[in-house]
Amino acid sequence: MENNPDVSYLFEPRSVAVVGASSHPGKIGYKVVQNILAMKYPGKVYPINPSGGEVLGIPACKSVTDADGDIDLATIVIPAKFVFDSIKECAKRNVKFVSIITSGFSEVGNLEEEKRIVSFAHDHGMRVLGPNIFGLYSAFSSMNATFGPREVVPGNVAIITQSGALGIAMMGKTLTENIGLSAIVSVGNKSDINEADLLEYLVPKDEVAVILMYIEGVKDGERLVRILRDATRKKPVIVIKSGRSKRGAVAAASHTGSLAGTDGIFSDVMRQCGVIRAESLDEALNWCKFLSKTPAPVGENGVIITNGGGMGVLATDACEKYNVSLSDDIEMLRSAFSTVVPEFGSIKNPIDITGGAPIEDYDKSLDAAMATPEVSSIICLGCETAVFDSDRLAVTLEKYFPGGKSKKPMVFSFFGGPKIDNCIAEYRNKVPIFFDVYEAVSCLGALYADYRNKALKPPVYDESVYDLIDHAAIEEIIKRVRQDKRQFLLSHEAAELMQAAGIQMPKTGVARNMREAVELAKKIGFPVVMKIVSKDIIHKTDAGGVALDIDDEKEVVDAYEAIIHSARAYNPNAIIEGIEVAEQLRKGTETIIGARIDGSFGPIVMIGLGGIYVEVMKDVTFRSFPLTSSEVMNMIAGIKSYPLLLGARGEAKKDIAKVADTIMRVGAVIYKHREISDLEINPLVVYPEGEGAKALDARILLTKSE
Ligand code: ACO
Repeated sequence: MENNPDVSYLFEPRSVAVVGASSHPGKIGYKVVQNILAMKYPGKVYPINPSGGEVLGIPACKSVTDADGDIDLATIVIPAKFVFDSIKECAKRNVKFVSIITSGFSEVGNLEEEKRIVSFAHDHGMRVLGPNIFGLYSAFSSMNATFGPREVVPGNVAIITQSGALGIAMMGKTLTENIGLSAIVSVGNKSDINEADLLEYLVPKDEVAVILMYIEGVKDGERLVRILRDATRKKPVIVIKSGRSKRGAVAAASHTGSLAGTDGIFSDVMRQCGVIRAESLDEALNWCKFLSKTPAPVGENGVIITNGGGMGVLATDACEKYNVSLSDDIEMLRSAFSTVVPEFGSIKNPIDITGGAPIEDYDKSLDAAMATPEVSSIICLGCETAVFDSDRLAVTLEKYFPGGKSKKPMVFSFFGGPKIDNCIAEYRNKVPIFFDVYEAVSCLGALYADYRNKALKPPVYDESVYDLIDHAAIEEIIKRVRQDKRQFLLSHEAAELMQAAGIQMPKTGVARNMREAVELAKKIGFPVVMKIVSKDIIHKTDAGGVALDIDDEKEVVDAYEAIIHSARAYNPNAIIEGIEVAEQLRKGTETIIGARIDGSFGPIVMIGLGGIYVEVMKDVTFRSFPLTSSEVMNMIAGIKSYPLLLGARGEAKKDIAKVADTIMRVGAVIYKHREISDLEINPLVVYPEGEGAKALDARILLTKSE
């Protein structure tokens, strides 16, 4: 890309052109100009319209080239068929960014035109936002170059959205929810600028406290992962993902592909990145609002204050769900709350001030919680009783949230009649008060997820794994397979590659005749297994091409004859290269280890419970590669069948370190040799701790050749 302009010109343009600016109030080209003017954008605005005239009182230029100065941002709102020509004009006027609102490109199959525009733009030092977007709002330059709501409250939440319609709706919702925006950017088809570019600008900005991304599909995920992993250590990044089924389009070339399912990889990789994943728009906006206004906690000692046992239990459940830690420090709790809780109440967390508590008792308990430094967050709950003066609840809320801010992280949930409902409706934009306990606790869950992310050290990747691999040997194998015009590796090639990667496989060799088979079997040691080797026979078992449990020389001879006979009957034209004789492995715990270049995320690794149940159980976890040593252990611990590796029912603990080592090695292979698209070991038979693991079978595929 030539003269790639700095993204700051997108958010802080000194001049904006609106190509397709119209004086017809019903048109999008009118609304965009109207919005820009309404926010009192301080830069120069150039309405562009072939008829000239004026738009909303500003003289229009007939072409971008007629503008009397350079243009940092051109917003394009003309029909798709005219867009390319207008981009050409933009190039003449040194435009840095084009924001193409127009629809009718790749989203309707018109990919070629979209590519043509991006390629031209890049060649002329321009970058493209969209197409198929509603534009962008940036508080950094008081610019609302969207056709969304005219009014936007500036603030510290930044939103990046792939959906135009939902994005516009979110803009509206931020008004009703009193969420201040530092930016909202519609990325649409992401023909050029994507989330990663925008995060690079937004994350370092002091004016941005929280970032929300609405994602349908990921482009250039490898870069996004790298940026997100860094971003989430600095700011909370909330993600909401829809269009999950689109990911099912990932070619199911291997188990690793098909097991990825629709959302598996996305979910696991986002978790790895420290992203806080919301299930619904409501949840996402609740979290944005809460995180943007709440001080950081100083520890993980939450307390629940309640007048009802039931509410307290519900909140405790919610804390478990959202990973909010509650204090068990009974001495601290007693010293903080014993004077404010009646005899028949409880100072064990939840702090139960009992159903007889008037609202004043809440104040006393909240004062106690505020005054106790060890209490790091507060969940305040209540059921409306006859002794609870609901009219007075507002006074409590105002007291602990002067000016809408609290000194400690606090959430409220009250349940009752119309007075409670009215109070919640009145205060919900100033105070995190909810009808639903789970909604309240989920906000604290998001806060703590961010708190933990910020405490993480930067990831340290163990680069030494790359030195453990014989890269030249792998390149040589790939070359041979390419020369043979194949995309898959034959089993002996896969075995060679495993050896180059330092992953143990059963001892094996290919016999060209019966005598060689006997010699090989003796050298390997009984029992052995024998398998047909032929490019023309992929499904060996169906062809009667596999024999197991061969215990002596006579059985080798019998099996040799039987395999050749069945294979010829199965496919008389098959060229048989020989018979593979291999060590028969002793039993162990079967896992599946995979690595692939994912269409969205690039190199990813997978572990699961392997063997014949793999498809049924779908008990797998994914991670983006490279991985840190703690991440690989987390990944292994993430499978449901992890207890099998720890040694269930009195069995010995398995060699988990070897499993981790194998994952790192397959990851390193796929990371360094991008011509390999899929690598899958199924099963990796894992033995007790210290005894290692062996790959029984490896399936390796290459990318389509150019
Ligand atoms: N340079 C400058 N102005 C031009 C040019 C040009 N090359 N060509 C045409 N114009 C003018 C037109 O004369 C017209 O001005 P006028 O009102 O004075 O006559 C103006 O540009 C607009 O052109 P129209 O032909 O009237 O187009 P219209 O406004 O109907 O539609 C639009 C253009 C909005 C870009 C449409 O093609 C489109 O893509 N709509 C969908 C937008 C959208 O939904 N975006 C997606 C995401 S947001 C979401 O989903 C909610």
